[in-house]
Amino acid sequence: MKKLILVTGGSGYIGSHTIVDLIENGYEVISADNNSRSTPGMLEGVEKITGKKIKNYKVDLCNFDETRAIFEENEMIYGVVHFAAYKAVGESVEKPMLYFQNNLSSLMNVMRCLEEFQVNNFVFSSSCTVYGNPDHIPVTEETPKKNAASPYGLTKQMGEQMIESMAHANKNINSVMLRYFNPAGAHPSTLIGELPIDKPQNLAPVITQTAIGKLNELVVFGNDYPTPDGSCIRDLIHICDLAHAHTLALNHIIENKNKNNCLAYNIGSGTGISVFQAIKAFEENTGVKLNYRIGNRRPGDVIAIYADNEKARLELGWAPKYTLNDIMTSAWKWEQYIKDLPTHLDLRAFRLN
Ligand code: WQD
Repeated sequence: MKKLILVTGGSGYIGSHTIVDLIENGYEVISADNNSRSTPGMLEGVEKITGKKIKNYKVDLCNFDETRAIFEENEMIYGVVHFAAYKAVGESVEKPMLYFQNNLSSLMNVMRCLEEFQVNNFVFSSSCTVYGNPDHIPVTEETPKKNAASPYGLTKQMGEQMIESMAHANKNINSVMLRYFNPAGAHPSTLIGELPIDKPQNLAPVITQTAIGKLNELVVFGNDYPTPDGSCIRDLIHICDLAHAHTLALNHIIENKNKNNCLAYNIGSGTGISVFQAIKAFEENTGVKLNYRIGNRRPGDVIAIYADNEKARLELGWAPKYTLNDIMTSAWKWEQYIKDLPTHLDLRAFRLN
């Protein structure tokens, strides 16, 4: 009997790629996504890749009754992978209450349902932003968490603390918190990828949209940081490597009922690159010259961070397979594939044309 996994945020960038990986590794999947920041068409891409139609519950996870109804209708839910959240660092600085309300209410409702319906396997989409501006890099899971540099990072710190409290009180629920670094790239099929609903905020889609002409220019948010070339340092991780980490995390908690029922892992490539180096890698891999200029620093940005991913390698058996070149080439292929997407960014309409 296949184990049924509920993926919240299943139409999103990481959610859709994770559903593909879960299905390819023998899980059955349902999704919950209100498409406030994602397109329903992404699950059609998942269907094209896996041959499986994914049922999506278009509910507001900030509404407890709507969230609860999913669990009531699917009493066989074996585990939950919780992605549904807003994730733009810069936007969170401008709209903190939007982030607290959305990211924390939805998490709270899902956690209440885990307990009520005795769903004992939980993977939480956390973030390297929980470390704030680290004193030393690379960061390990034991690196002290500084003050979050943005409200987004604070929602992830608070989310982790909520899960730790639940794990302490309820030993039946096994939780894994995956601290993502910077997801980028697209599935090798080019049938799913990153699809910002509005103007992109993350570096990789800004690069590809500038390259294809959707954006006039890329603004580098600051070149006066205390780093080798003055731009911020990040750890780009291929979306498919990140997706597979969720499958391995689920396997780990299902196969190893841990005495520690609350685990955290850094999921990053383990290599730090600067914004300028990312731009250079894109240009070298695609032959496309990017139009960029230097702008002001972006409030909420961490100066430099990248992962020590040894713990995930040892305990989850996870290791990144894709390279920075794979990230840039797959992201560019995806951007070219969607270049004529209608403005409402609904992949279904795009595919029917
Ligand atoms: C990266 C760097 C910007 C856009 C992301 C996710 C967050 C979390 C951590 C998962 C920064 C610079 C960007 C632009 C730029 N991941 N930049 N011009 O802020 O590290 O956070 O990874 O949880 O969810 O959002 O990613 O891609 O926004 O920025 O110069 O137009 O690129 O200043 O130094 P960030 P990002």
